[in-house]
Amino acid sequence: MKILVIGGGGREHALVWKLGQSSLVEQIWCAPGNGGISEIAECIAADPGEVQAIAALAGRLKPDVTVVGPELPLVRGLADEFANRGLKLIGPSKSAAELEGSKIFAKQFLQRRGIPTASTYGVFNSSVDAYTSLCAVDWPVVLKADGLCGGKGVLVTSSPDAATSFIGRLMEELEFGDAGKHLLIEEGLEGEELSYIVLTDGASLVPMAVTRDHKRAFDGNEGPNTGGMGAYSTDELLSAELEESIRRTIVEPTIRGMASEGRPYKGFLYFGLMLTAKGPKVLEFNCRMGDPETQAIVMRMDFDLAEMLMAVADGKLGDLKARWAPAASACVVLASKGYPGSCEMGKAISGLSEANKISAAVVFHAATKMEGSVYYTSGGRVLGVAAKGSSLQAAVSSAYAAAGNISFEGMHYRGDIGRAASVQGRAAGGAEIESS
Ligand code: AMP
Ligand code: GLY
Repeated sequence: MKILVIGGGGREHALVWKLGQSSLVEQIWCAPGNGGISEIAECIAADPGEVQAIAALAGRLKPDVTVVGPELPLVRGLADEFANRGLKLIGPSKSAAELEGSKIFAKQFLQRRGIPTASTYGVFNSSVDAYTSLCAVDWPVVLKADGLCGGKGVLVTSSPDAATSFIGRLMEELEFGDAGKHLLIEEGLEGEELSYIVLTDGASLVPMAVTRDHKRAFDGNEGPNTGGMGAYSTDELLSAELEESIRRTIVEPTIRGMASEGRPYKGFLYFGLMLTAKGPKVLEFNCRMGDPETQAIVMRMDFDLAEMLMAVADGKLGDLKARWAPAASACVVLASKGYPGSCEMGKAISGLSEANKISAAVVFHAATKMEGSVYYTSGGRVLGVAAKGSSLQAAVSSAYAAAGNISFEGMHYRGDIGRAASVQGRAAGGAEIESS
C-alpha cells in the first residue's frame, strides 16, 4: 500500500509511525510533515489548507488511501474534492465536517436528535442581542464563536465583564473574521472530560482507546488553555456501563442522525464529552483525531492501522476489530517558552537519542526542523513523549523518564499528566478557559 498523510504535527507523526509498522505498507508520504516525520516518511512541502493543491498532489502521487490529520482541509471540502477525482480519503465530506466547522450546526443537530448536550441561552447574530442575553443567564456560561478560530473561539466564564469583552472582540472587532459573526451561548457544565473517538465507514464503527486530554498549560489545571499538554489512556477511564451509555445515547444517534440528514459521516469522529452528574453530554465534535490524544492511542494499537484505514475507505469496516494493548499509555507534551502565546523558536534540542533508549517510550515530533544533524524547535508544542505500560503509573513514569533526557532553552511541560485524575475536568467557578 501507498499512503499519504496530510498534516505536520505530533498527531501525524504518531499516525505515520504506526502505519510504518504495517507489513502491507511500502510507501508513506506526509504533507508537509516535520523534522521527526522525515526520518520515517517522505515529506512533501504543502499547505494542508490549500484543498486544490493537496488534491492535485494526491492526483500525482496516486496513494491507495489518504488520511487527514487537521480539520481545516476537511471543513474546506478536501474529501469531496478527492471523491470527484476518484481518490480514497479517510475523513468526512464538507457537509459532514460541519459538526466541527459550525458550533451552531452541531448544537442544533444535537438538539434535533435528542442527544445529551449543554442547554443553550440562544444563538446571536448581533452583539447587542448577545450583551442583553447575559442579564438572564446562570453563571458560568460558555460563549462559542460559530466557526474555526484557531483555538481561541470558546470562553468558559463566570465573569460578566469577561463575557462582555469577548463578545466585543468577536462580534464588533471581528478578531476572528466571519467565524465570530454568529455566537452561541450555552450552559457551563461541570464534571470530568473524556475524549471518545471512533472510526466509522458510515455503517460500522470502531472506537479508539478512550483518552483524557490536559488542556491547561500548567500543573493542577492552572494557566491558559492550550491545544493539549498531554493525554493518557487507560480502560479504567470508562466502565462498561458508561461506555454502553455513550454508545447508545450519543455515538450511535450521531452517526445514524447524520446519515438520515443526508450527511453520512465517514472517518474519525471525536466526541468531546463532559461526564456530568446527569450522565455524559457532548461538549464538542471534532472531525478528526485529537492531538495529543492520537499519540497516546497509537501506543496501545495492537492491530494493523493501514488495514483498518483501507477497510474504512472500502466501506468494509464491519469485518474488522481493534485490539488494544493492556493497560495504559501516556503522552507528555514538551512546549516552547511562551506557549500557548507567541513563543520562542529555533532552539537546539538535545537528549533525543537518550530518550529513545527508553524502550517503552517513543518521541513524537510536533514542531521540529532538522539542520545538519541537529533538531531545532519550530513551534509551540515541540515534542510529545509517549509511552505505554502495564499500568497507568508505569506508562506515565516511562514517559517522564524519557522526557527528562530532553532539553531545549525555555522548554516547559506539565508534571502531572495522568497523575491527577481528580483535578481533571472543569475548574471551579470563576475560572476562564479559552479554546477553539
Ligand atoms: P470546544 O472548542 O468546543 O472544544 O471547547 C473547548 C473546551 O471548552 C472544552 O474542551 C471544554 O473544556 C470547554 N467547554 C466547552 N463547552 C463547555 C460547556 N458547555 N461547559 C463547560 N466547559 C465547556
Ligand atoms: N486535544 C484536543 C483536540 O485535538 O482538539
